[in-house]
Amino acid sequence: MDKKITHTLLLVDDEENILNSLKRILRNDGYRIFTATNAKEGLNILKQEPVSLVISDQRMPNMTGSEFLALARETAPDAVRIMLTGYADINAAMDAINQGSVYRFITKPWDDNDLLVTIRYALMQYELVLENRRLTQLTQRQNAELKDLNQGLEKRVEERTEKIRKMNRKLKNSFFVTIRVFTGLLGLFDPDLVAHSKRVAALSREIARRYGNLENPEYEAIELASLLHDIGLMSVPNNLLKKRKNQKTDSGRKLYQPFGGDRQWQIATQDQMTASERKLYQQHPVVGQMSLAGIENLDQVSVLVRAHHEHFDGSGYPDGLKDEEIPLGARIISVADTYDDLVYRCKMLEVDALATIKKKSWTAFDPETVIHLVDVLQQEAAAKKKENMITLQELKPGMVLSRDIETYSGRLLVAKDTEIKENYIAKLLSYNEIDPIVDRIYVYKSKEQRA
Ligand SMILES: [Fe+2]
Repeated sequence: MDKKITHTLLLVDDEENILNSLKRILRNDGYRIFTATNAKEGLNILKQEPVSLVISDQRMPNMTGSEFLALARETAPDAVRIMLTGYADINAAMDAINQGSVYRFITKPWDDNDLLVTIRYALMQYELVLENRRLTQLTQRQNAELKDLNQGLEKRVEERTEKIRKMNRKLKNSFFVTIRVFTGLLGLFDPDLVAHSKRVAALSREIARRYGNLENPEYEAIELASLLHDIGLMSVPNNLLKKRKNQKTDSGRKLYQPFGGDRQWQIATQDQMTASERKLYQQHPVVGQMSLAGIENLDQVSVLVRAHHEHFDGSGYPDGLKDEEIPLGARIISVADTYDDLVYRCKMLEVDALATIKKKSWTAFDPETVIHLVDVLQQEAAAKKKENMITLQELKPGMVLSRDIETYSGRLLVAKDTEIKENYIAKLLSYNEIDPIVDRIYVYKSKEQRA
């Protein structure tokens, strides 16, 4: 509380000598003091001055002290009101206190000290009331301001979010149109290549997840680059691609190993591709990058496409990048691409394909990426025991999903453990047209295997 407050006091009594003696007693406390010899005069002062405390005699002509103090309460409700009264009027004083128009009364004759103490206490109470009100008002005002601010903020955040959502929807739509156009083109060119790309995208996505600290756009770029990584093959002459498709080992099995050193690889390449053909073939990542660069939002994707045949030790192409010079997404795609190629195109047993990849850790592949691939394949093997992998077209009512169905853009369509109903299939098929669904769908082999 501020001790420097100068209080204004109003003393009302028809007897001048009483007023004078009160003034004398109060002189040393530093108050501003107004006096009035009748109620009317007193009320006028109350209207004009910020009075903290009123002392009024009870017995006055025309109006009693309690009547005056009741009016004073209306004019200056905060001012503390004290009544001076003789013993004869104690009842009137008690009534006034009960009605709330008087804080307390002082009997005449008074003890000077008691009077001073009573007044000081009364003024302390006055200050407390005002301070309390000030703080309450401050809190209310701050609360109101905070509320306004919050509402404003919420509104602004909402508006901004909606704007971003709209922009994203627009961007995504045109983005997916672009991706669809490219995969459609790729499909016309070589349907096997599209199936391969979709599997690589799914595998890359799982490997990327094992890194745990990738941002959403990075995931998306990795998946999209996986889908489009071989788009540049469209520039490679057909007869050369056919040669590559039909590479055979001396044991009669199709084999393709994209890195040097192995006897089988030498047989496969030396027999099938001339040096100039290989040079031409190795241009496909550059051609791929060039077809995507410049398309809005595909810049990052195009960089990954260019680097998908780089090797960890710098022996890859087209730029001979090594280690972390190769973007992480490209290191992931490279592992997933080769693994899928070995299993699906070269018809290697999965276990042999994985062994081949592991052998090429540190040379062709980033060892960390290989570790993540091993983890993904182990988990898939465990899951395969209780689930079947099917395509969207093979999905039937009554089947129960063992994994979520998601789109390539990461949108969750149907959650794991959902039993498929007839109408879901129609919806999923039509959804697939707009935002393609990840190629593989997993269902439990039997309903009992549901977790
Ligand atoms: Fe490639």
